Amino acid sequence: MRVIVADKAGFCQGVKRALDLAIKEATQSPEPVYTFGPLVHNNQVITYLEDLGIERIDEALQAPPGSHVIIRSHGIGPLDMEKLEEQELTIIDATCVKVKQVQDFAKSLIERGYALIVLGAPEHPEIKAIREYINDRALVIHSLDEIIEPLFNPIPEKVGLVSQTTLSKIFFDQAVEKIRKQIPNLEVHNTICGATETRQEEARKVAERSDMVIVIGSPFSSNTSRLAEVCVEHVPVKKIETEEDISEEWFTKNMTVGVTAGASTPEWVIKQVLKVIISIGEMLDGECEVINGDMYLTKDNKSQEKNGGSSV
Ligand code: F3S
Repeated sequence: MRVIVADKAGFCQGVKRALDLAIKEATQSPEPVYTFGPLVHNNQVITYLEDLGIERIDEALQAPPGSHVIIRSHGIGPLDMEKLEEQELTIIDATCVKVKQVQDFAKSLIERGYALIVLGAPEHPEIKAIREYINDRALVIHSLDEIIEPLFNPIPEKVGLVSQTTLSKIFFDQAVEKIRKQIPNLEVHNTICGATETRQEEARKVAERSDMVIVIGSPFSSNTSRLAEVCVEHVPVKKIETEEDISEEWFTKNMTVGVTAGASTPEWVIKQVLKVIISIGEMLDGECEVINGDMYLTKDNKSQEKNGGSSV
């Protein structure tokens, strides 16, 4: 059996930074530490943080006076931020810079008199925060079926479009093409983050060379779901959270298995998954070739297991 690991799989810079900040707080702060919402969309990382003593709150008032509150990587809206600032808390902002850029950009388009279209899931925390920043003055579109005529009547002089950072590039292109048919003057700003686009592109390349792709990440991770969508265009996909979800029945002799992982999936989970796949491959074929898996399988990975895969 052959296993091909995607070139870019697992933690992006935004997730790494958020986790580094959280680990630093957990180890240095004498006060209790909380995250506002899940720090990142991955259950194994959340459990890891709980083991460090970091709990999650969903309302500003849940944080006891004097405690430290880490803002999640997907950001929060201005109302929640105001409520936090009104209290005696130390706030550590782990909002990803790419997410912040979209918030600021959406706000500036509205301030400059644009009608705004946001491509993304209306209830995803990132989009909820953007909506709050612009007082819900945007048309949020999450599927091609929602692009019906007319989106605006009359069509405003200036219409801008931004996207969720973890959107599928394929959906982005299709949606823009469809919207442009009724709004030719649409000003398109692709705000999908580089990490998302690269991971989708690398996942596609792996899928093209494989008989099946295993995508690792939590079910509520948006970017992980997008990776699965990209791969399923080419081959069957198995979406798993940990090695425990793997079934031997998925594998056949001499097959090529692709492996990729969402931007919030830790290296220690990827490593465990690879180990299980390799042992199944060895059982079926007597040997298993792994392409591009060294960084997960070598001993250096040990140090990252200890600190949650973060660079701290
Ligand atoms: Fe940021 Fe993109 Fe990662 S928005 S958290 S770098 S997936």
